[in-house]
Amino acid sequence: MVKRISILFCFLLLLPVFAHAEDISGCIVCHNVMAGKIDFNGKVIDLNVDAKRFETSVHGAFACTECHERFHENPHVPPDSQVTPEVERLSEEVALKAKADPVALAACSKCHNEEYRDVIDSVHGKNIVEEGKSDGALCLDCHGSAHYITKSTDKDSPVNKWKVVDTCGRCHGKEELAKKYGIEANVMKSYFESFHGKKHILGHKRAPTCVNCHGYHAIKSKDDPTSPVFGTNKIKTCGKCHKGANKKFVAAITHKEPGPIPHYAEKGLIILTISVIAFTVLHVLLEAYSDLRDVLFRRRKEVEHEEGKEYSG
Ligand code: HEC
Ligand code: HEC
Ligand code: HEC
Ligand code: HEC
Ligand code: HEC
Ligand code: HEC
Ligand code: HEC
Repeated sequence: MVKRISILFCFLLLLPVFAHAEDISGCIVCHNVMAGKIDFNGKVIDLNVDAKRFETSVHGAFACTECHERFHENPHVPPDSQVTPEVERLSEEVALKAKADPVALAACSKCHNEEYRDVIDSVHGKNIVEEGKSDGALCLDCHGSAHYITKSTDKDSPVNKWKVVDTCGRCHGKEELAKKYGIEANVMKSYFESFHGKKHILGHKRAPTCVNCHGYHAIKSKDDPTSPVFGTNKIKTCGKCHKGANKKFVAAITHKEPGPIPHYAEKGLIILTISVIAFTVLHVLLEAYSDLRDVLFRRRKEVEHEEGKEYSG
């Protein structure tokens, strides 16, 4: 009797563990061991979900079906129409961007509604929803795999201060993409060549990355009056770090390829500097040579003189 009660007691203690484990275990038994990528309706998908990494992510406490709303029973039973209506609607908007499960991609909106709206209304979201293309950025393009998202301050997060520039650069470093959308192709190069980019690489914590000037979820075209880099909005944007920034000061930063005049002026300056250095070095060498020659010549003369003296004497 006592034995039976203690077994029951142990079971009750473990119940919450089982309850959570069951939420993902049904799916994870297969997906944790499945390795490799498959072609799914013409798109390459990765079937593996690493259980350990998933559990330590920000969403580790959620059931797989919290996002994969269509999957209610195992394994993969046809849809039973229990998808939240708002998620269903959004999933159609972002279907072009999805690889296997647009519902999961739209389900982020349930818990991050504000971020979702900002992204959909941004230049990136409009590219997908309004223009019907799939080049713009959606959640996973910046945050990485949906299963391993960590806090944005985490050292591995692709959106942390030290990684976000590369994350934007994955698309904005592509010349073809810039050409396709008539965007300045020079943005990455000009950032790295700027005072800000150089300081950032050196680890200066206050040097701005792309998101300090452009924002991140609600990114707008530079020609949109609500963009933080549109016209006089720049005074406020730069003013966050440069007290007293004015119209003249904010014109100092641009991604534009420098025009021919500053370009040649810069090249000219480099040539001038090199010539001055070369001339100085040559001058010093010649002087050293002439000193040396003088010394040797005088020595020889002196020796000859001494010898002559001896001879004559
Ligand atoms: C019995 C093994 C098994 C179980 C259990 C299982 N899956 Fe799968 N899953 C697969 C296989 C095999 C594929 C490969 C593509 C296919 O046949 O649909 C797949 C593909 C997928 C895909 C991508 C393709 C698609 O259909 O959208 C998703 C998303 C997915 N599974 C989620 C889940 C979720 C969520 C659960 C738990 C509710 C789950 N799976 C449980 C075996 C399984
Ligand atoms: C926070 C939401 C979320 C949770 C929780 C979640 N997923 Fe996903 N999952 C996604 C999204 C978003 C995608 C990408 C959908 C797309 O592009 O079509 C995805 C894709 C997949 C795929 C296809 C792989 C691919 O490359 O697109 C599989 C398989 C999968 N999930 C299985 C699981 C399993 C198993 C669990 C539970 C351990 C789980 N997911 C939990 C959001 C989630
Ligand atoms: C069921 C609700 C839910 C869903 C669905 C969900 N999230 Fe989350 N998400 C959360 C919660 C709660 C946290 C905060 C966890 C914490 O603070 O520890 C979080 C944290 C995050 C963070 C980290 C925020 C930070 O502090 O830096 C990101 C990024 C994120 N989620 C993106 C997504 C994306 C992308 C999707 C869709 C694929 C998604 N979430 C789906 C509930 C959800
Ligand atoms: C263009 C890149 C980009 C896209 C697209 C994007 N994010 Fe983010 N997200 C970021 C960056 C960068 C941060 C961190 C900013 C910081 O704290 O420095 C962030 C932070 C977050 C946070 C933490 C709270 C906050 O606002 O700082 C959440 C939650 C989040 N994102 C969810 C989402 C969801 C959901 C989507 C899709 C609807 C999404 N993100 C799309 C770049 C992006
Ligand atoms: C110090 C502020 C600042 C930083 C940092 C910054 N930008 Fe910009 N960006 C601007 C301004 C101002 C413009 C408006 C057009 C111009 O003057 O070049 C702009 C314009 C753009 C444009 C549109 C270019 C066009 O003319 O078509 C893109 C794309 C862009 N930035 C991407 C980025 C990316 C990616 C990063 C990070 C590598 C970044 N920016 C970093 C200030 C900044
Ligand atoms: C998945 C690829 C992708 C990623 C990642 C991405 N972008 Fe973009 N971005 C685009 C595309 C495509 C456009 C052009 C959209 C259009 O015009 O329809 C664009 C447009 C822009 C513009 C507007 C350019 C203009 O017309 O003035 C800015 C600014 C910008 N992105 C900044 C960023 C920043 C900052 C990040 C990182 C936080 C980022 N992007 C990440 C693909 C991406
Ligand atoms: C997130 C903070 C931040 C933002 C936003 C920012 N800067 Fe800076 N900026 C810095 C830092 C840090 C330095 C380096 C200061 C130093 O080490 O002397 C710097 C240096 C500069 C310099 C060269 C040195 C100087 O002080 O004259 C110029 C010019 C400049 N920024 C212009 C701009 C312009 C224009 C904008 C807006 C388009 C802008 N910055 C936005 C932080 C910022």
